[in-house]
Amino acid sequence: MRVSSIGALSGLITLSLSAVGTASFITDCQNFATGFVNEDTVVLSSTYVTEGTVLTSPDICTAAVTATANFCRVKLKVATSDSSHVITEAWLPRNWKNKGKRLLMTGNGAWGGCLPYTDMALTSSLGFAAIGHDAGHSGPWANEFTNPEIFKDWVYRSLLAATKAGKAATNHIYGIDELSKSYFMGCSTGGRQALKLAQEYPDEYDGILAAAPTVNWVNLEFGEAIVALAVGLPGSPTFLTQEQWDAVVAATMEQCDGIDGVIDGILENPARCDFRPEALLCGPGQTWALNGCLTPVQIETVKKIYSPIYGNGGCYVYPALPLGGFNEQGFPFKYGTFSGGGVQDFLRYVVYNDSSYDLRSQFNYDTGDYMIDSEFFGAQTNKTDLSGFQASGHKLLMYHGQADTLVPPTSSYDYYNAVSREMSLQPSALDQFFRFFPISSLGHCIGGTGMNYVGGPSQIQSFPGALDNVPIRNSAIMTLVDWVEKGNAPDTLRGYKLSATGEILGQKDHCRYPRKTTYKGHGDPNKRTSWKCV
Ligand SMILES: *[C@@H]1O[C@H](CO)[C@@H](O)[C@H](O)[C@H]1NC(C)=O
Ligand SMILES: *[C@@H]1O[C@H](CO)[C@@H](O)[C@H](O)[C@H]1NC(C)=O
Repeated sequence: MRVSSIGALSGLITLSLSAVGTASFITDCQNFATGFVNEDTVVLSSTYVTEGTVLTSPDICTAAVTATANFCRVKLKVATSDSSHVITEAWLPRNWKNKGKRLLMTGNGAWGGCLPYTDMALTSSLGFAAIGHDAGHSGPWANEFTNPEIFKDWVYRSLLAATKAGKAATNHIYGIDELSKSYFMGCSTGGRQALKLAQEYPDEYDGILAAAPTVNWVNLEFGEAIVALAVGLPGSPTFLTQEQWDAVVAATMEQCDGIDGVIDGILENPARCDFRPEALLCGPGQTWALNGCLTPVQIETVKKIYSPIYGNGGCYVYPALPLGGFNEQGFPFKYGTFSGGGVQDFLRYVVYNDSSYDLRSQFNYDTGDYMIDSEFFGAQTNKTDLSGFQASGHKLLMYHGQADTLVPPTSSYDYYNAVSREMSLQPSALDQFFRFFPISSLGHCIGGTGMNYVGGPSQIQSFPGALDNVPIRNSAIMTLVDWVEKGNAPDTLRGYKLSATGEILGQKDHCRYPRKTTYKGHGDPNKRTSWKCV
């Protein structure tokens, strides 16, 4: 039979070609440096990695991961000035050409210095050429920022250098000009990097996923300082312990949980809650230990934390922290001991170059004004004219947890609306290239109690089992890919509530702003069919 023998023959040819292709890919990987050219770049290593290999940490803050695909792991060092460089890794899957020929770079968190291995393991397994970098310095600290070149890398330059190097590496291993689509995703600092790309370098990425971006970054730091001073040190009259903040959240839920039409432990929109913390006020002779109540001074602290922040002359600085937020990550506790650095490190290593600078005794509103007036290489990341991005035809998908007590979600609403005003575009027009999804009960990138797994940056590591049980096509990443490549613009972003073992306990389709995720008035609130967009 003619037809079937031709079929058998072509099957044979395909098989032997792919066998040859595999062998040559491994050789190509080992010889990666041969013929590789990218400005100011040295190839540190290139290793063929097989699925199941454990990759250990290149720095103190990157957890080891198990490779979930076969790929060529390339390490590059790109000089950004005489005294700075960025380490970039590219994990280039063997099985790439028939998986969309895509690249995805994952951004950094906080001060950077940590390679996003967990996300790179995920994206390489999805077939993306997975790129990550160290933001220009190694380790989670800010002390190297006394060299302005290194801070400049953190603000934007490492992002560009890694983008260029990552694309060059991808083109080199698969053959010039093969790259079909490029994506970027990041949360927190990575969200800020995402917006920086959309604002200043609109041509680099076809699709950008910005989660909990630290937009208006200098104002965020100013606001953190004010919060730190308002809370005070543990033991001071103004201070609340984590248990006391938990009581505040419980009281918030008691007063406001039903505002969205259903008692489910979730504030669909915390901004609608008119919380009265005095409900927790101690009467004469009452104490926290005996009565679970708060002093008048502590109530003042609570009011400050949940109010917008103003500086000199009543100048608006930053939005309030969200009511009912996810405490475990929240500022108030961390600030008691300054663990994690935050704004104090910024003041020490960027603003003043004085490692003994003490925020608590030295910071005042004038310091804040000085910060706002300084350039810091564009760290604000607050450009609202996205016309370059609009013209590029590329897509920006932004989301922000409504329970984020590190970067208040209001900052993303404000940014969206500032873009709308600047460009004189209503949401129906912005929708063509910029969509924003508030995610109820999601903390900062991770954390929270509701339908808060959306398959976004930095999420995989804290939702065990999510990859096995949640269809990847519903993830924020693949939702963006679908928008970019098929024109399927998302109206909702699906969130999953997962048990500690990854079992799906609930689902919700979070609506794009300014539509509101609204309870239908009946039905199980853990079912997505009980909600609609209004
Ligand atoms: C910061 O201080 C260090 C140590 O005093 C000094 O070596 C460095 O040049 C300073 N950096 C700047 C930008 O002034
Ligand atoms: C960005 O922030 C700076 C303050 O650092 C401010 O002067 C400027 O007006 C802001 N730009 C926009 C578009 O809001």
